Amino acid sequence: MTGWKPFPQLWHWQNQQTTLILIRHTTRSPLDEDGDLARFCLFVRPTIPTVLESTIAMNVLVVGGAGYIGSHAVRLLLDAGHTVTVYDNLSRGHAASVPDGMLVQGELSDRAKVVQTLRDKKIDAVMHFAAFALVNESVNDPALYYRNNVIDAVELLDAMREADVKKIVFSSTTATYGEPDTVPIPETTPQNPINPYGFTKMVFEHALADYAAAYGFGYAALRYFNAAGARPDGSIGEDHDPETHLIPIVLQVALGQRDAITIFGDDYATEDGTCVRDYIHVDDLGAAHLLALDKIELGKGLCVNLGTGRGTSVREIIEACREVTGHPIPEKMGPRRAGDPSELIADARMAKERLGWQPKYMDVKSIVQTAWKWHQAHPNGYAK
Ligand SMILES: NC(=O)c1ccc[n+]([C@@H]2O[C@H](COP(=O)([O-])OP(=O)(O)OC[C@H]3O[C@@H](n4cnc5c(N)ncnc54)[C@H](O)[C@@H]3O)[C@@H](O)[C@H]2O)c1
Repeated sequence: MTGWKPFPQLWHWQNQQTTLILIRHTTRSPLDEDGDLARFCLFVRPTIPTVLESTIAMNVLVVGGAGYIGSHAVRLLLDAGHTVTVYDNLSRGHAASVPDGMLVQGELSDRAKVVQTLRDKKIDAVMHFAAFALVNESVNDPALYYRNNVIDAVELLDAMREADVKKIVFSSTTATYGEPDTVPIPETTPQNPINPYGFTKMVFEHALADYAAAYGFGYAALRYFNAAGARPDGSIGEDHDPETHLIPIVLQVALGQRDAITIFGDDYATEDGTCVRDYIHVDDLGAAHLLALDKIELGKGLCVNLGTGRGTSVREIIEACREVTGHPIPEKMGPRRAGDPSELIADARMAKERLGWQPKYMDVKSIVQTAWKWHQAHPNGYAK
């Protein structure tokens, strides 16, 4: 059949569930100029979210992948065709949140084990979620935070140097900004953390910048606003102990695990007097990680906010939870908490410009719906 030339033509149609690809494959015999033969092939496949399409398949080590946000990133990495290894000491995570056969249980401080894992699994890039993240705990026991979030995290970087793995995506936080004067908060806002948690995360951002300059690391530090929601099929979700995040706590009232939700202050300078935050769906965070993975350049770093750019008040969250659950969710008033700024909303433009990232969950009710599906199916989290 030599001499036959293919002239493919392609039509593409997709919605959120299904992608149709129609290929017109015209072949022409060099012996017969009029003899075009048109054939059509129709391919039907599930739609892969556009944000994930450009990634090149990699071997990714997800450090802290048994935790809330890490376990969601793991699913998105797998969905996009990457090979994943989770490295976690299970101090705050759940083995049940990790797909079978992917967990290596170990400490970040165990350099030999991390190096071995990086080499054995031929890791191309690391995602780092393995930090402690409770503000009050960090105030009461800063040693725990400096050790885990700085010292052990730098051990990870040195293990990466030893194994010659130089790409890393890091879960940073809006807590590195402290109480900024400007809202929405752009990345140019000075980082003035007001607690050891925020400080340790900022210090690690500096370590990344120095490792990029000196050793050629490439990194993205993604400064999350308020992570919320769960995988839409309800298979994995948020299970912290203690739980300090608003949406799961409000949903505990709907589940009958608490009598009421306490609102800490309704005299802030906001529309309804309660604090306003920027809630970002956990899968939108994960999607940004995948995009960042693709964009990382060795020797360079990128620090971007991940938020929707929309603020939602505590009262609006409670109302959304009432609508979604159909439960009255009684509330009671409490005093303001120290160090609670009235409004924290992301200026999210840079993530769109630099990563091509656009959150899918722009209204808080859709985020609550995913969280409710998880909590209803797993009222005790991962515990049987
Ligand atoms: N949850 C949020 O709203 C939020 C907001 C901003 C930033 N972040 C950041 O995102 C990251 C993940 O948050 P999360 O809510 O998923 O936390 P998480 O506690 O659910 O998950 C952290 C995981 O890391 C593991 N881990 C911790 N220290 C480790 C160590 N030394 N060695 C090995 N494994 C270790 C824990 O066992 C756990 O599985 C954190 O770094 C946090 O600072 C979270």
